[in-house]
Amino acid sequence: MSANLEAARSRVNALREAIESHNYRYYVLDDPEISDSEYDRLFLELQQLESQYPQLLEPRSPTQRVGGEPLSEFSTAEHRIPMLSLGNAFSEAEMQAFDRRVRESCDAGEIEYCAEPKFDGLAVSLRYESGAFVRGATRGDGSRGEDVTNNLRTVRAIPLRLRGASPPVLEARGEVLMLRADFDRLNERQSAAGEKEFVNPRNAAAGSLRQLDPRITAQRPLRFFAYGIGDVGGQSMPRAHSQALDWLAGLGLPVSSERRVVSGLQGMLEYHQWMGSRRGALPYDIDGVVFKVNALVMQEKLGFLARAPRFAVAYKFPAEEATTQILAIDVQVGRSGTLTPVARLKPVFVGGVTVTNATLHNEDEIRRKDIWRGDTVFVRRAGDVIPEVARVSRPGARAADDRFVMPATCPVCRSAVIRLEGEAATRCTGGLFCPAQRKQALLHFASRRAMDIDGLGEKIVEQLVEKSLAVSPVDLYGLKPEAVAGLDRMGGKSAQNLIDAINASRGRPLARLIFALGIPGIGEEVAKVLAGHFEDLDNLVEADWGGIAEQKKSLQRDNAARKRRGEPALPQLLEGIGPELMDSLAKFLHESRNRAVIMALNEAVRPGLAGTPRGAALAGKTFVLTGTLPTMTRDRAKGLIEALGGKVAGSVSGKTDYVVAGEDAGGKLEKARALGVRILDEHGFMQLIKKKEIPDGR
Ligand code: IVH
Repeated sequence: MSANLEAARSRVNALREAIESHNYRYYVLDDPEISDSEYDRLFLELQQLESQYPQLLEPRSPTQRVGGEPLSEFSTAEHRIPMLSLGNAFSEAEMQAFDRRVRESCDAGEIEYCAEPKFDGLAVSLRYESGAFVRGATRGDGSRGEDVTNNLRTVRAIPLRLRGASPPVLEARGEVLMLRADFDRLNERQSAAGEKEFVNPRNAAAGSLRQLDPRITAQRPLRFFAYGIGDVGGQSMPRAHSQALDWLAGLGLPVSSERRVVSGLQGMLEYHQWMGSRRGALPYDIDGVVFKVNALVMQEKLGFLARAPRFAVAYKFPAEEATTQILAIDVQVGRSGTLTPVARLKPVFVGGVTVTNATLHNEDEIRRKDIWRGDTVFVRRAGDVIPEVARVSRPGARAADDRFVMPATCPVCRSAVIRLEGEAATRCTGGLFCPAQRKQALLHFASRRAMDIDGLGEKIVEQLVEKSLAVSPVDLYGLKPEAVAGLDRMGGKSAQNLIDAINASRGRPLARLIFALGIPGIGEEVAKVLAGHFEDLDNLVEADWGGIAEQKKSLQRDNAARKRRGEPALPQLLEGIGPELMDSLAKFLHESRNRAVIMALNEAVRPGLAGTPRGAALAGKTFVLTGTLPTMTRDRAKGLIEALGGKVAGSVSGKTDYVVAGEDAGGKLEKARALGVRILDEHGFMQLIKKKEIPDGR
């Protein structure tokens, strides 16, 4: 090896180390040692050496943060340890209740809490293996998010390697955000380039992270702050949350310097006040503070609710308010036919965005707050919630005309409206005959937590309903590409992309499908319980609810008796589904129109697979798809594989189990032959799948 190369190698190493250490000082310690221009000089020198000696290039070099080609879509990333959300508190009384619950459950006096700002960005999970950043993912629905590794690699505050002795596995959880100053500069740049400006730093951060081309993300000034730990591969953890945060900082991950350990309710209230007064002085937006029971043993004892831990709470700051005038009051019709009065407002800037509409909830709320057309009102907006009219600031001229009256017929379909006794909501009786309800039902069906059909947004759904192309979700699966291509905003590849996205949704787990039906009162958790119990839609539709209610009652009696005898309880039937929900389900499933839609959907979503045996799955199997299959799109094939627990990889290697090859398959097929990987055509692939299970969403 030449002396020159050796000299270059040692300089390259020194530069890389220096740059990493300056990153650490800048992003973690918030205490830079050198100026930005000195930093840039080091960076440039490294870039020049690496281009002169390409043999020295390594993916972990700080110059190699932007890599990877634009993707056509993100792949799914599973969170083995779910990413949870937080319960909210808005008042001292709610905080007092939280603290009391904690003390009672832990049987302790004053509790020590770790206090942190509540960053207003988006949650991500960063996975490090042997100290190297290997995967970054968004939160998604908490159990599966999107793999945004290449985008997160461009965020300089995220170290590509951890410092010091690093654990074999570490998942750092935290928030990606944009500093306010960076946001302002970005918007100046956007407007100078004639591009759309972002409404607030949070949206800018979210939009930047979800770019399919990492080169775009790299130009966006994103930051990261860690606030917790996910998977640690079974190794032992620090005994307190505050120590875990210190540990993360020591490993080179940015952690808020506003974190504190506080004592009891009093300590939490003081911290909340202190942060409230410092809020404007922080370089980033926060929407409250987070308190976590500091001792990990206590955290474990407290455990979790469905979506949030019982050991933590977000104490939100009061929502920002502004005054403006009500120009008109319109009525909107929602998914279940609820009529919601909406105030059209003179535009006003509040909570970081310009607000032009605010919900007035229902007729009673309007009476209670005494809101009339033309009034000057306080408008309130917090985080991502829908803006609402808090109260009247000054009544307008108020002629009889300005008083709001709920219409007697649906403003969309003219069907009669009803308001049941004891209910606040007024509803349209048009059902799926009402275009407004149809639109909302389709949007819910396609939404991320339901069937997750990318690209099926409001504008498209509106046209599908107005052109009678889709009356119920079943119709989505029969849409013809020509029909879709005829819609506005469906030029170029969009129509085919949408059809592919619809096809890809066919393989979704049963729990999502049940949730997607939009049965009143049936959320994601209940849908999971139903999927686990009934295993397919036929069974759900044919369920004997009277019988189930009887069984539930007798099980409860049995368990009461067992308890008296000191015996362990038998598992509850349809846990968490009480008489009211069962009633709602029974009513929904009794209606012949609903039954027809569900049965047709069952056929449409699981064609060719209906009735196949359950049992083994494709778990642990890796597939590579190449070439054009005769009848199936690539997304459909991918959806099926993933639905059965298999993985789809982009290239063939020794780890590939099957290559599914269609027409014009090229290099991948050759490589598969060379490596002796099993090759399937579409028919062979379908045969393989038919032997396997249809997942049931548990
Ligand atoms: S802890 C197990 N700490 O708030 C608890 N979350 O409303 C998991 N967030 O999804 C969350 N700052 O994206 C935690 N200091 C902080 C946070 C924080 C912001 C976000 C996070 C979470 C959401 C829940």
